[in-house]
Amino acid sequence: MSVTEQERRVVETPIAPPVWRHRHILDVDDFSREEIGLVFVTADAMKDILAREIKKVPTLRGKSLVTLFYEPSTRTRASFELAGKYLSADVVNVSASGSSVEKGESLLDTIHTLEALGAEVIIMRHPQSGAPYLAARNSKCSIVNAGDGWHAHPTQSLLDMYTIREKLGKLEGLRVAIVGDILHSRVARSNMWGLATMGAQVVVCGPPTLLPESFSRAFPVTVERSLERAVAGAHVVMALRLQKERQEKGLLPRIREYVSHYQINRERLAMAEPEALLMHPGPVNEGVEVSSELTRGVQSVIDTQVTNGVAVRMALLYLILGGRRPVARSEDSARPPGPDSSGFRSGEPAEGGRSQ
Ligand code: CP
Repeated sequence: MSVTEQERRVVETPIAPPVWRHRHILDVDDFSREEIGLVFVTADAMKDILAREIKKVPTLRGKSLVTLFYEPSTRTRASFELAGKYLSADVVNVSASGSSVEKGESLLDTIHTLEALGAEVIIMRHPQSGAPYLAARNSKCSIVNAGDGWHAHPTQSLLDMYTIREKLGKLEGLRVAIVGDILHSRVARSNMWGLATMGAQVVVCGPPTLLPESFSRAFPVTVERSLERAVAGAHVVMALRLQKERQEKGLLPRIREYVSHYQINRERLAMAEPEALLMHPGPVNEGVEVSSELTRGVQSVIDTQVTNGVAVRMALLYLILGGRRPVARSEDSARPPGPDSSGFRSGEPAEGGRSQ
């Protein structure tokens, strides 16, 4: 494919991202609306790359990423690995199981070891809330939180919000109902912050044992006990996985009881806005949180969430490694990036060094 002189100038224009200030990605609670918008427009450019026959650019050539997972994962780990590889980074996967963690190596020793091996970004999932913050305070690497305990899952929240924006054109003013095991959900916590920052109205709903009343004081959300009232008029209905592995005795209702009161089925989804989006971060407990007929029905965007995870994670890797910002049109460079700005849409991230 030949590259015109104009396209070459677009790709090589070395302008640093104007608002990006994050060396680590630990949660979205400290992201501004503009920063989330910058992730979106960068992900738009990544989607352009992913639509090509050969989905590979040299943007992060020579950079080393490590995924370090102390808990199981399919979507997050595979999409980060693909994201790094599509950007030409070297990617190594380490699971706690089978690593020196099993011989008693501490988290910080593991982080320092990976740093000594040349890792520049460590993407980590850990069962303890706060573990990525400890790693970030003690490492020269960029730390990306791929899920810590019940606390946060920022990249899932960003891909969820990106999917809503892609399907509905905006986030501001939308009603988003999050349903299920809110107590144990890091996805819910990150989404509550992110969606509120973007101007959405968030309603959370679940059994009292899995949704303490205190959530309405701790987070910018409304707690609604009736599923029907929570879903009524929603533009987005997000069901959460029942996290059986994190349940303390007595908190989890019997599955049949849960299904009867909280499963998103055809009748309940019909109370939402027509063509409301049905979301789930996955993995789905088949026939529990969402009725089987809806899981891959016309309103479901569950597969789109997974697909968008690659573009959003490519965008995040690009932004934290300080690549030069592409500018598609000269007038875009002066405009602050936001949810509707399109400066990256027809550009492509150029190869660039880390800016500290
Ligand atoms: N949503 C999510 O985090 O899925 P995985 O556990 O498969 O990564």
